[in-house]
Amino acid sequence: MCARCIPTRATRSSTISSVTDLRTTEPAPTLAPERAGAPCEPVLNPLQDHDISARALGKSFGKTQIFSEVSFRLARGEAVALVGANGTGKSTLLRCLLGLIPMDHGTVELLGQDISQLSTQELRRMRASTGLVAQKHNLVPRLSVLSNVIHGLLGQFSGPRYWSQSFAPQDAREAAMAALDKVGLAHLALRRADRLSGGQSQRVAIARALVSRPRLLIADEPCASLDPSAGEDIMAMFFELVRREGMTVIFTSHHLEHALTYGDRVLGLAGGRLELDATAASLSASDLRGLYD
Ligand SMILES: Nc1ncnc2c1ncn2[C@@H]1O[C@H](COP(=O)(O)OP(=O)(O)OP(=O)(O)O)[C@@H](O)[C@H]1O
Ligand SMILES: [Mg+2]
Repeated sequence: MCARCIPTRATRSSTISSVTDLRTTEPAPTLAPERAGAPCEPVLNPLQDHDISARALGKSFGKTQIFSEVSFRLARGEAVALVGANGTGKSTLLRCLLGLIPMDHGTVELLGQDISQLSTQELRRMRASTGLVAQKHNLVPRLSVLSNVIHGLLGQFSGPRYWSQSFAPQDAREAAMAALDKVGLAHLALRRADRLSGGQSQRVAIARALVSRPRLLIADEPCASLDPSAGEDIMAMFFELVRREGMTVIFTSHHLEHALTYGDRVLGLAGGRLELDATAASLSASDLRGLYD
């Protein structure tokens, strides 16, 4: 079946109900370890069962429309792959979900909160409950690996104490070391970030996203620019952590096998529309190739 022929609504409810079952094994939604200082209380609605609800999203840059009428939901604990050709707006969509750039149309509920109704401070708290692995790692090159991971706590804590591991509170350093340990890089904690390989940088970026123990992860090409073997390792490690911690994740990938292997569901952008919303189990790589025609 051509990917474009797959109806979006027909597949959605069955997918979500199957994924909703995962909630029975999900740990309680702890968002951040208690630490000294004055952490931001996350804005949460414990009654909602979708971590992302996007309705009729539209975005243009100048006169160029990137996408319109994009609607989907992510159930708690679900992993969803977002695929589409270069320039179809995947990164833009992820940034809209986090409120990093404004949408032109539509609404986004993150963790049960309409982000358009949140104050700047509330939006900041909301982002503190999400982890972002950006397409470009954006590590600070001259700082240590450990300092870069501590920066992942800046959504919850502000101020110069969190800029460098030398000044960071002990519990922040411990949390960052624990995150580095999870990605197998504790031994490189004091190495400068600009002395890492591409795969090591990617692991550090993942540790930085995980250090705040987010409930929701947004990962834009988490294995971009890695060789196939390193890319496989990173994806396997990343999703092992995601599943173990019961996180909800939306990720983009140009590797169709990754989308099908690691996503419970696949969303496809093409021609400015969400042309595909189907369970990974119902799709093959050749179905997805239809999105790239
Ligand atoms: N800040 C911006 N101002 C103007 N145009 C932009 C801006 N950001 C992105 N675009 C354009 O929007 C379109 C979508 O870009 P986006 O980065 O979201 O695509 P993508 O699907 O993530 O692509 P890729 O697969 O290459 O990462 C592109 O044409 C891009 O040039
Ligand atoms: Mg992109």
